Amino acid sequence: MKIEKVNQNKKQFLDLLLLADEQESMIDKYLDRGEMFALYDDDLKGICVVTREGSGVCELKNIATYEKVHGQGYGKKLVEYVCRHYSKDCSIMYVGTGDSPLTVPFYKKCGFVESHRVKDFFTDNYDHPIYECGIRLTDMVYLKRIL
Ligand SMILES: CC(C)(COP(=O)(O)OP(=O)(O)OC[C@H]1O[C@@H](n2cnc3c(N)ncnc32)[C@H](O)[C@@H]1OP(=O)(O)O)[C@@H](O)C(=O)NCCC(=O)NCCS
Repeated sequence: MKIEKVNQNKKQFLDLLLLADEQESMIDKYLDRGEMFALYDDDLKGICVVTREGSGVCELKNIATYEKVHGQGYGKKLVEYVCRHYSKDCSIMYVGTGDSPLTVPFYKKCGFVESHRVKDFFTDNYDHPIYECGIRLTDMVYLKRIL
């Protein structure tokens, strides 16, 4: 298994990016300035994107593994890798997500704790309603992990 930084043509991973963030125009807001990492175990299993937000703060903007390999530990390995990588010059990593049983428990398993919410983020910023597990996402839930 190896994790590599992706320096060119990040859009080659658009299929994975869209699993985590289904509106491409929202991905475009962080993809250029974000650092992307890809996990390979024989073939590609998943990716994540992290941005530096200043003052020792970074943010996990996108993480996805292919559905057929969910639950095999690849997501957590990516999180552990970027936490270790950014701990050199950051003290806190945030992640923002919908209030969904598909994502919040994953981040908690990865050592994140709830921090704050941005009210109506999904309804204000996305051009269509986003549903997960049949529930419409409204607020952005921010979680944080001390690095
Ligand atoms: C969220 C996602 C990245 C998790 O990746 P993954 O490779 O399946 O996660 P892992 O196998 O590393 O799981 C790590 C731990 O979280 C747990 N977990 C993962 N998803 C969970 C869920 N929905 N509910 C409860 N626990 C969950 C696993 O059981 C595992 O627990 P363990 O450490 O006790 O064994 C993956 O489901 C995904 O790509 N989803 C679609 C994209 C997405 O929604 N991204 C997040 C956007 S905010």
